[in-house]
Amino acid sequence: EEAELQRRIVAARETLGSRLVILGHFYQRDEVVQHADFVGDSFQLANAALTKPDAEHIVFCGVHFMAETADILSSADQQVILPNLAAGCSMADMADEDSVEEAWEDIAEVYGFDPEGAEPDAEGKLPVIPVTYMNSSAALKAFCGRHGGIVCTSSNAATVLEWAFERAHRVLFFPDQHLGRNTARAMGIGLEQMPMWNPREELGGHTAEELHQAKVLLWHGFCSVHRRFTVDQIEKARAEDPEVKVIVHPECPMPVVDAADASGSTDAITKFIAASSPGDTIAVGTEINMVNRLAADYPDRTIYCLDPVICPCSTMYRIHPGYLAWVLEELVAGRVENRISVPAEVADDAKVALDRMLAAKP
Ligand code: 13P
Ligand code: SF4
Repeated sequence: EEAELQRRIVAARETLGSRLVILGHFYQRDEVVQHADFVGDSFQLANAALTKPDAEHIVFCGVHFMAETADILSSADQQVILPNLAAGCSMADMADEDSVEEAWEDIAEVYGFDPEGAEPDAEGKLPVIPVTYMNSSAALKAFCGRHGGIVCTSSNAATVLEWAFERAHRVLFFPDQHLGRNTARAMGIGLEQMPMWNPREELGGHTAEELHQAKVLLWHGFCSVHRRFTVDQIEKARAEDPEVKVIVHPECPMPVVDAADASGSTDAITKFIAASSPGDTIAVGTEINMVNRLAADYPDRTIYCLDPVICPCSTMYRIHPGYLAWVLEELVAGRVENRISVPAEVADDAKVALDRMLAAKP
């Protein structure tokens, strides 16, 4: 059955030719990745959506927020298709527009600005700039676009925070507390200056004085895959092989990033392994499909996932080759299924924040 699915995908791709481009995230399963014209991390995939202006159909093998971003950045006559509409991201769902808007009102009150549009002070700086991780809804990217803010990915988060601090005294960072904390700390910001904003509590659970010390207000979101990695796993890997090199994704908790030798986006992890030497042992803290593929690509090194029982990203995994075959065959038949189309009033504002991000290279 698997072979039959592969045959159907290949046949449909052939028929569609250059009218089709398939983009795949590193976390996709091998049976999907093998059909992708381009495989990359979220930043690269956002750019890839821009580089094929002639393709009518962009089939996005990844999760919902990535397909939304591709739709916002691609031209109006291109259609973005997500093979399975149930491929979301639990972290992106942790920041909904209403909660962020409410938090913004509270924040505006604490720092004394108009939530509809803050004015820069004598230094030319805004009181707060919202920064959203790519892993968020288009509505939140639009929120950032409207409030002088910007989008970041795990590969350019440091550049983006620097951009933000040139323009504002503080940052509201959502949804991923870990990426926010890891990035801000690497810039020398102390933990006491990054309170976590709990939307269920008054003033996010802080006093106004605490908030006046703050540089980065962290939303409380996290990735259920990456928060499973622990310092114990790293210690065990080092006890087994003192020469082991450990690299983790910055969505891991801060103590895990600190205990690792390096951290970076899925592309940075791929490059770290490409730069290693035959015979090396590398323990990786990220999604299992990607780690297994790297292990297969470099049989002369020992590459393994830090968490032996880790699950794949269950939503990335929902892009089964059966769905890919189905959407492609529908396209061959002239029908567009599972289109992701962001309404213009959201897309226009979201594009402002995304364009600022694209200018901030990793
Ligand atoms: P990257 O930008 O590193 O590809 O991360 C995407 C993601 O969802 C990680 O969990
Ligand atoms: Fe979302 Fe985590 Fe899956 Fe990435 S790995 S798509 S952050 S749930």
